[in-house]
Amino acid sequence: MNLSIASKVSIGEGVEMPMLGLGTFLSEPGEKTRKAVQWALEAGYRHVDTARIYGNEKDVGDGIRESGIPREHVFITTKVWNDDQGYDSTLKACEESLKKLGVDYIDLYLIHWPVPQKRLETWQALIRLREEGVVKAIGVSNFMVRHLEELLEYSPVIPAVNQIEISPFIQRKALVEYCRKRGIVVEAYSTLTRGQRLEDTRLLSMAKKYGRTPAQIALRWALQQGMVVIPKSVHRERILENASIFDFELADTDMEEIAGWDEHFSTLPPSWEPETSTQWD
Ligand SMILES: NC(=O)c1ccc[n+]([C@@H]2O[C@H](COP(=O)([O-])OP(=O)(O)OC[C@H]3O[C@@H](n4cnc5c(N)ncnc54)[C@H](OP(=O)(O)O)[C@@H]3O)[C@@H](O)[C@H]2O)c1
Repeated sequence: MNLSIASKVSIGEGVEMPMLGLGTFLSEPGEKTRKAVQWALEAGYRHVDTARIYGNEKDVGDGIRESGIPREHVFITTKVWNDDQGYDSTLKACEESLKKLGVDYIDLYLIHWPVPQKRLETWQALIRLREEGVVKAIGVSNFMVRHLEELLEYSPVIPAVNQIEISPFIQRKALVEYCRKRGIVVEAYSTLTRGQRLEDTRLLSMAKKYGRTPAQIALRWALQQGMVVIPKSVHRERILENASIFDFELADTDMEEIAGWDEHFSTLPPSWEPETSTQWD
């Protein structure tokens, strides 16, 4: 598989999404986020994932500008937060995100969570934003099969992307297959398990075998399945480490071994886990 740091996946209508992005959840607003974004861009990342609720859109925008890399060479994702869902309030939230980021378009705009009673009108608003050209592509996050079925029945516009928690310990195989069949690109988040399972002995021994770190094995495993990955770090060495995943390949037998590690281990509180919590019905 010939992947490089510049690899992109097509998400429709001529939009290309870099397969490696920088995550920014819990990246402190201000210099911490600005620096992380600059280090990432210096290292060759061309994609940053943020959200209105993270409170750091301004710093993501500033970091990109301060890097000197032209805006159109960087793919920016942000998301409409739960309290802003609904038709008019989503339009307004998007305007505020554009202002905070200091840009005149967003590459990918996502519904952050499948909020009951609101998610379908929110989707209508996203369709309008895309028609107006202020967002280039639209998608969803934390949508499980039941949410996608509902959405596809309601609207002819298929989400370009579904951003979901995926790591070797939570693989969501049926959902991934569902997305693949419908041309929805899977974007993996918390692939490093937020650091909670990087000491797993099987992962450690696979890392040793390849002379890599556990974080690199987890990210490479997701990439090799065609997923987009967005590891978060505010440390320069880790930002570099997480990008050094394009000069080795996991053998098919090792991909198969990791496929056996799935145990639905989520970093989310149970009431938020979208597969099992009734909060999202
Ligand atoms: N759509 C959603 O609902 C949703 C939910 C969660 C996340 N996301 C997105 O996905 C991104 C990634 O997920 P995440 O932030 O939850 O978790 P993650 O990327 O799995 O892990 C981030 C954590 O791991 C540490 N870390 C980073 N690189 C490391 C390495 N090489 N070795 C050891 N530890 C490392 C980071 O610490 P330092 O920063 O201190 O280095 C941070 O504590 C988020 O930042 C966000 O953009 C989206």
